Amino acid sequence: MKRSIVSAALAAAGFILAAWSSGPVQAQAASTAASPNQAAYLAANCANCHGTVGNAVGGMPGLAGLKRDYIIAQMKAFKEGTRPATIMHQLAKGYTDEQIAVMADYFSRQKAN
Ligand code: HEC
Repeated sequence: MKRSIVSAALAAAGFILAAWSSGPVQAQAASTAASPNQAAYLAANCANCHGTVGNAVGGMPGLAGLKRDYIIAQMKAFKEGTRPATIMHQLAKGYTDEQIAVMADYFSRQKAN
């Protein structure tokens, strides 16, 4: 009796894991264009410092309304170490070129306050 409960629980966990691991990966592979939600999700990682939708307060550089190409170039420069930084050189390394392009696109469309 006990054993069947355990194996049922394991089977359920296995199913959830399988569903979880195949779902998002397939969805991502199916489309190369980022959905608006994906862009907002990525950009939210920058909000702590650069403000909500890129409108910074307190001396931090804002990202809203900057040119897409400018943002991409800066992120690349941070990544490669050609632009000195206190923190962005570390952060920039955590994103792929595609993710950076998605975020740059997103921030360039936001209105600077
Ligand atoms: C922990 C705080 C912090 C977070 C989080 C953060 N930044 Fe920054 N960002 C900075 C600081 C500080 C600078 C100024 C350069 C430096 O000292 O690193 C900067 C500068 C920049 C610049 C250059 C702006 C300009 O006017 O030239 C860009 C572009 C940028 N960040 C993009 C991003 C993006 C995209 C994210 C989200 C993935 C992000 N940042 C997350 C702190 C942060």
